[in-house]
Amino acid sequence: MLIQLFSRLCPPLRLLPLLVAFPALMQAAQEFRPGEVWLDTAGKPIQAHGGGVLYYKQTYYWYGEDRTPGNHGAVACYSSTNLYDWKREAASLTGSDLPSVDGKPTFVERPKVIYNPRTRKFVMWMHLEQNGYGYSRAGIAISDTPNGHFQFLKAIRPVVNTNAFKPKDGDNQHLYGGTFRDMNLFVDDDGKAYAFYSSEGNWTMYIVRLNADFTGPELPAVENQTWSRVLVRQMREGPAPFKFNGQYHLITSACTGWKPNKADDAVADNIFGPYKQLGNPCIGESAETTYGTQSTSVLALPDHPGKFIFIADEWHPQNLPDSRQVWLPLVPGTNGPSRLPWHDRWDLSLFAQKSY
Ligand code: GAL
Repeated sequence: MLIQLFSRLCPPLRLLPLLVAFPALMQAAQEFRPGEVWLDTAGKPIQAHGGGVLYYKQTYYWYGEDRTPGNHGAVACYSSTNLYDWKREAASLTGSDLPSVDGKPTFVERPKVIYNPRTRKFVMWMHLEQNGYGYSRAGIAISDTPNGHFQFLKAIRPVVNTNAFKPKDGDNQHLYGGTFRDMNLFVDDDGKAYAFYSSEGNWTMYIVRLNADFTGPELPAVENQTWSRVLVRQMREGPAPFKFNGQYHLITSACTGWKPNKADDAVADNIFGPYKQLGNPCIGESAETTYGTQSTSVLALPDHPGKFIFIADEWHPQNLPDSRQVWLPLVPGTNGPSRLPWHDRWDLSLFAQKSY
């Protein structure tokens, strides 16, 4: 009777008896739901497209493209201690932090952050771009704190001594070096850091060791010693590197813009390659389109050797802000391709199972 009265005054109270009987319904879901709208702790859809996750002092920081309408060009940062609940932090970069080039604004895609223990700086690399996708530079920014404001340092093409590009090259590679588009960062066990990026107009992937501050390439650049060309003329994008059993894996997508395509897992004994393409890690329905997504990162779970989460974007080109995050458990391959089965819902307890 009392509840009915309340319910008329305040409709959500109609749910009260249900919630008293099943308190679990009141808790936020502690699970991943790939492709569903993923809300932050303030109830807003997470905007961290093309992103990557940094683990620092018991906290995860997720950086990505903020495509909130009116905010394109900024890098958002979220923090979490459990990988399910993400709190939105201050923007790492806003549009006004970015340079204008030839009077035209730039924007950010696929930002990634790593920590440099020597300089104690958080270092962000990103694909810095302009409309038309001809600018194609690495943007580099630093911050003293993971959730602070980053200072934009410079925009470069890391490798300038590439093989003779033709003068008519539309991306000005003969002048400035190989293009820098889809990218990722990787820190190896010895603390050395590497940028992986689609170069040569996306035809060939470059791997470049960073300098001691992580703010540029190691110099002097020597091919196959400080940088290398891999997956040559294979047109691969969305590089998502990880290391397992002493081998370097590189999951990539094909190059079809916002349209999803087939992923590939490539493996090498040396970080600079050569990489052997092992094939598609996805299985079953929609495997040919990576379940409608494109790779962006692989997160190695700290303190859990051999446990990895594949992070991908389900792009919605008609409404990019509504693009979805897809996180899936990755089974790393030994002497064969990794496996990436689909799960409608899953949680971290899956990793305790013998097979998944
Ligand atoms: C994709 C790339 C995205 C974005 C898009 C633009 O191939 O992976 O990051 O650049 O093209 O069309």
